Amino acid sequence: MDLQQIKQRFGIIGNSFGLNRAIDVAVQVAPTDLSVLITGESGTGKEVMPQIIHQSSARKHGSYIAVNCGAIPEGTIDSELFGHEKGAFTGALSDRKGYFEEANGGTIFLDEIGELPLNTQVRLLRVLEAGEFIKVGSSKVLKTDVRVVAATNVKMEQAIKEGKFREDLFYRLNSVPISIPPLRERADDIYLLFRKFANDFATRYRMPAIRLTDDAKEMLLRYRWPGNIRQLKNITEQISVIEQQREINGEAITKYLPYHSGDNLPAIITDHKKEESDFSNEREILYKVLFDMKNDMNDLKKLVLDMMENGGVNAQGEHAQIIQKLYQSEDGDFVPNNNNVQPMPYSQPVHKEHHESIQDTEEFVEESLSLADKEIELIKKALDKYNGRRKQAAVELGISERTLYRKIKEYQIER
Ligand SMILES: Nc1ncnc2c1ncn2[C@@H]1O[C@H](COP(=O)(O)OP(=O)(O)O)[C@@H](O)[C@H]1O
Ligand SMILES: [Mg+2]
Repeated sequence: MDLQQIKQRFGIIGNSFGLNRAIDVAVQVAPTDLSVLITGESGTGKEVMPQIIHQSSARKHGSYIAVNCGAIPEGTIDSELFGHEKGAFTGALSDRKGYFEEANGGTIFLDEIGELPLNTQVRLLRVLEAGEFIKVGSSKVLKTDVRVVAATNVKMEQAIKEGKFREDLFYRLNSVPISIPPLRERADDIYLLFRKFANDFATRYRMPAIRLTDDAKEMLLRYRWPGNIRQLKNITEQISVIEQQREINGEAITKYLPYHSGDNLPAIITDHKKEESDFSNEREILYKVLFDMKNDMNDLKKLVLDMMENGGVNAQGEHAQIIQKLYQSEDGDFVPNNNNVQPMPYSQPVHKEHHESIQDTEEFVEESLSLADKEIELIKKALDKYNGRRKQAAVELGISERTLYRKIKEYQIER
């Protein structure tokens, strides 16, 4: 496969030298079993590299397991990676295979490798050097044949100096380094990426794509992008959803480009590296809610305006459709406020009760405009649906269990 084919297959946009070079090294190193360490600031697009390596290697029919070392609690990471024996610790009710056993014959991607606890680093070094590991609570040495690709956004040299990362492991992992340049050094890619994301969000939210005036383009190019492509993607989504105008000028775009002095990271990723994906998930949900509500509002306005002009609601045709749409919940069920309300309860001219219905609706809209309320409502619904089982509820909500837990506490949701 040549470079263009790889980019197409993995959805990679951009043509800058640094990016092409990184992909090229990934493809070259793929057929070997060498360990690869991918470095690059947060949001530069590290996650696709191990997939390219796996898919271009002889292991492509084996399993590919991605592990975010920063997201697994220190107490369970050994067991997750290497498995445990029944009774190894409280709660170990049966034997469990670890990822290194599961991925035998395949590839493991260890993301945020800098977060790996020191004792786990010892186990990892052994597996890399000898293909051997021992399950937690066992004494039996097992064998596995796994290709390891790791990634980090922290300066490993610093971590080594501070005694947080073993030097021997670093050299072992770093057999082949791949570094992904920050977005600000890939100026030619910025606008390409923007256009791609703008089109994606236009499709997702079913509206025309935003375009940039020349001065807005200029601002994108000159911005520092501390959160790199992830930030560009998030900002493009925000603008797509929030701005009414589809043509975005320089003034409009500055609102979305937070100012950073020196090399500060943007507020959203400072100490919350691990929460990043939660953030974007939540934001996505909120945008969807916001966007749906905006549409509902517009529909309502239209309905009211029409009624004022024509003095009534027609039970067929466009009004009926609007009303039906307004009463439809996301999964397509009707959610009438009481059992008597039909999707099309309105007959000819406006009686008093119609005024009341409209007022009800307005009240309803006003209430739901609070994102927090909407969020609480969604969380309650999800918890109800799964009888209070948080894991499933979190999956349905598209947030992590931890975030759900936090929100339940924050909003004091009782279930
Ligand atoms: N070259 C690219 N083309 C298209 N999307 C990209 C590119 N690089 C990164 N992305 C997108 O940007 C986001 C962040 O990338 P990711 O690989 O998660 O970054 P990180 O380096 O922090 O692991 C993801 O949504 C990813 O799909
Ligand atoms: Mg990442």
